[in-house]
Amino acid sequence: MTQNTSSINKHIVQHDLVRESFYIIKERNQLDEFIETFYQNLLSNNPTLSRLFKEKKMDDLVKKMRIALRMMVHNWVNLNKLELMIKPLGCRHVTYGVKSEYYSVFGETLVSTLKDYLKDDWSPEIEKAWFDTYNQIVSLMLQGVNEEK
Ligand code: HEM
Repeated sequence: MTQNTSSINKHIVQHDLVRESFYIIKERNQLDEFIETFYQNLLSNNPTLSRLFKEKKMDDLVKKMRIALRMMVHNWVNLNKLELMIKPLGCRHVTYGVKSEYYSVFGETLVSTLKDYLKDDWSPEIEKAWFDTYNQIVSLMLQGVNEEK
């Protein structure tokens, strides 16, 4: 197996783990509640981020996060093909006031909230798959910001 093929296979396995774990929450009809808990966790642990979201209605934030999750769940294997869409998303985040150091706390809160919801369905492999997926999107977003400079 070439290195390229083995890395594609690893991506497919991780993609399945992300998708399957996400669908457990979705099929329990807990998605909106999960997203609201995510924002509550994010803002209670990082009050300085509140200013970014203070004018926003929870309904709008839930919609935004559904789009962000959809990106992670459906598109990861082909993320590089989505560069043209994800890099400008990174640039828009600068205009929303998002600093590069906020990304790690956002990702950690996402993963810890997923873990709380999935309980016995969670595993170290699922955790790594989510972190890898999230970090890959963030790195494309930040690449977009650097290229624009
Ligand atoms: C993988 C990481 C992320 C993804 C995929 C993502 C995705 C999105 C999407 C799709 C939107 C809708 C607006 C647009 O398309 O420009 C959005 C808006 C926004 N995001 Fe993110 N986001 C990410 C990380 C973050 C982080 C780390 C923060 C701050 C801590 C953040 C704060 C915001 C804010 C303040 C808005 C504007 C909301 C509004 O005006 O309604 N995002 N994000």
